[in-house]
Amino acid sequence: MKVAVFSTKPYDRQFLEAENLAHGHELLFLEPRLTRETASLAEGCAAACVFINDTLNGETLRAIAARGVQLIALRSAGFNHVDLHVAAELELTVVRVPAYSPYAVAEHAAALILALNRKIYRAYNRVRDDNFALEGLLGFDLHGSTVGVVGTGRIGQCFAQIMHGFGCRLLAYDPYPNAACQSLGVAYVELPKLLAASDIVSLHCPLTPASHHLLNAESLQHLKPGAMLINTSRGGLLDTSAAIAGLKSGQIGYLGIDVYEQEESLFFEDLSDTVIQDDTFQLLQSFPNVLITAHQGFFTRNALKNIAETTLANITDFARGRVCPNRIPLEKTS
Ligand code: NAI
Repeated sequence: MKVAVFSTKPYDRQFLEAENLAHGHELLFLEPRLTRETASLAEGCAAACVFINDTLNGETLRAIAARGVQLIALRSAGFNHVDLHVAAELELTVVRVPAYSPYAVAEHAAALILALNRKIYRAYNRVRDDNFALEGLLGFDLHGSTVGVVGTGRIGQCFAQIMHGFGCRLLAYDPYPNAACQSLGVAYVELPKLLAASDIVSLHCPLTPASHHLLNAESLQHLKPGAMLINTSRGGLLDTSAAIAGLKSGQIGYLGIDVYEQEESLFFEDLSDTVIQDDTFQLLQSFPNVLITAHQGFFTRNALKNIAETTLANITDFARGRVCPNRIPLEKTS
């Protein structure tokens, strides 16, 4: 099957090509993101293989469907960026990679916590400058502190296990409690209680219309003053303006984010030679207690291998007319 692989980076190509030896699809590697304007690049391809910052709104889906695309193969777990109603209307099949390495993202959340708490990013720069003073680098013991996990699915569970290893007390909020977390001693509470009692809050739930701005000006007021907030899930879960206000007032003591509401125009590109136009992002960068990484939580060798494996298996299932277990159920609106 001929597949247009949008947003290709060298690492995508490396892992997909290696895995494709067992599948034999014709992979057309394209560097541009999929948008309405680049949709024509998929001409003659039966499948479009896309990542999280490709645009899959109604207009783009119509444009690629008109060029012969029948399958959308997401190289991601999240599908909040796909207009599923239009996909259903166009009778497109949408498949995803539901799990590729929950450890990768959970470990990255832990890395943000350690780096923020012990100010590793500041210490690294100081020592390189022969500044060996410790003032301003004071941290706290993770052992004995309370960690609130919002969303205890695959990633949240791994994260809870890691933090349990540090000797933290664990709280969680999830409409569907996870038995493995409960047996670890995780106590499920409502969100305001979790926010009020936690020294560290980490988000691991999906972005849906219901969870958009789950943490906003109102809910952040419940946060324990000076608490650490970690978001490795999706930018839209956190109202960035409210987070900035919280940082300024001291309600948020530390902020670690791997995702950002407006990341589409920034992340995955080298913009070091350009003037960033996003003032909110620039303001966030200016706080000494904010650590931002550019959506790299998933970025481990193990995860990339698993993404390539599942993506190609999904495409082969479709090509052979088999039922794909990773197909996203679509419902037509009318
Ligand atoms: P999952 O589907 O296994 O678990 C999600 C959990 O969140 C479920 O237990 C669900 O009941 C819960 N949930 C849903 N709505 C909620 C709400 N409003 N409040 C609290 N809990 C809620 O998903 P998984 O694999 O653990 O992934 C979680 C999220 O991590 C993904 O949706 C994605 O946004 C993000 N992610 C980030 C990556 C990165 O590179 N930074 C990579 C992969 C995923």
